[in-house]
Amino acid sequence: MSLAARILSPQRDVSSQDPAFLQARVSAYYDRVAENESHLLRGRLPERNALLLVSNDYLDLGSHPDVIGAKVRVLQEEGHGLLRSDVFRHGPGPLTDFERDLARLLQSEDTVLCQSGWAANVGLMQSIADAGTPVYLDMQVHTSMWEGVKSAGANGRPFRHNDPDSLEKMHGRYGPGIVVVETVYSTSGGVCPLSDIVDVAEQFGSVLVVDESHSLGVFGPQGAGIAVAEGLASRIHFRTASLSKAFAARGGMVAGSARNIEFFRYESFPAIFSTGVLPHEAAGFQATLKLIRGGHRLRERLHANADYLRYHLPALDYNIGESQSQIVSIIAGSEARTLVLRDALESHGIFGSVFCWPATAKNRALIRFSVNSSITQAELVRLVAVCEQIRNEIGREEKPAPKIPVRPAEVLQPTSSWPGFPALFGLTRR
Ligand SMILES: Cc1ncc(COP(=O)(O)O)c(C=O)c1O
Repeated sequence: MSLAARILSPQRDVSSQDPAFLQARVSAYYDRVAENESHLLRGRLPERNALLLVSNDYLDLGSHPDVIGAKVRVLQEEGHGLLRSDVFRHGPGPLTDFERDLARLLQSEDTVLCQSGWAANVGLMQSIADAGTPVYLDMQVHTSMWEGVKSAGANGRPFRHNDPDSLEKMHGRYGPGIVVVETVYSTSGGVCPLSDIVDVAEQFGSVLVVDESHSLGVFGPQGAGIAVAEGLASRIHFRTASLSKAFAARGGMVAGSARNIEFFRYESFPAIFSTGVLPHEAAGFQATLKLIRGGHRLRERLHANADYLRYHLPALDYNIGESQSQIVSIIAGSEARTLVLRDALESHGIFGSVFCWPATAKNRALIRFSVNSSITQAELVRLVAVCEQIRNEIGREEKPAPKIPVRPAEVLQPTSSWPGFPALFGLTRR
């Protein structure tokens, strides 16, 4: 029996007494699942020798003994500390120490820790936007930004992905407001033309919000991110990030001027209405920060690994779209093709993350490989060999989605061809 049939079977239907509106909402989900042979997000479970490219722990620091040791020490001394909303926190402590040191890395006056990247983005948009403020969002920005816009009752106005001209036109129509972009886009791995976006935002007097979730720790001097690498930090009002990527634990942050961060600490709903980050979590972040600052070698390995995939997968005629980073996605197109690709990869022990609507445009579903610094040469070779072996099973896209033009960002110094493993440690990218 297929998965869809199993979950639709009457024995499991204990909610038939629910009101009609709830049944309709829930049925819409089951109808979508039933369209495919199996649940798109539930493939097989990985076996012991599987190659997992599903974690955003890009520098593989999640289990580092320094991080675990720092957390354990604080847990032993303080337990979970005071369980309360962050608005009540003030004075010294592990959270404040981390916020200060992170601000130094980001060349920002201040930062504030949040419970997650989601909380950071929703809280920021909810607190700075209002019904009269147009909010210009790149079409590919994370849903958390849109949720914040909704929460503020503001007008979300999407502009074409990575297109400063489109942003300029929108400003001509609706006037100054808030511009929202990501430095590295989470599904495609594409990189924002940040300097051009900054120019447009400044030209019209808009506030600029930049999500650095997938570049913090990964790009820039000591992992400070792309805004610092491009010398743009002081021209951006707010930078946000999930700390569940290179910082490898649960958390988020917002960086900005001391005045604006103080406002966020007391006005954003997640700070007021949700329990804050715990002391041992902050101690873990502090230890991770030190590793990230000194992690130049890890970044070199990470980028060399990603370069390898970005070179070899298109050579096998896979569409990796606009990737210029450690996020390398194979765009499969329809959900049906994505299922075939997922099953073929998983049957050979290769696991990526499936992304489909609403995380991608319809018919632009994909399998995302999150590359990390610990993947070995042998594992990369195995991955590419599997992709070659299954190439004919997958078939070509019937109607390939138009390719999004790649805009090279200077900071990335993209390699025109794979330099080979001996050059792995000779890369200049920082
Ligand atoms: C760009 C971006 N922003 C925000 C988030 C949300 O972060 P978190 O998982 O910490 O809530 C994510 C995570 O998926 C993301 O990719």
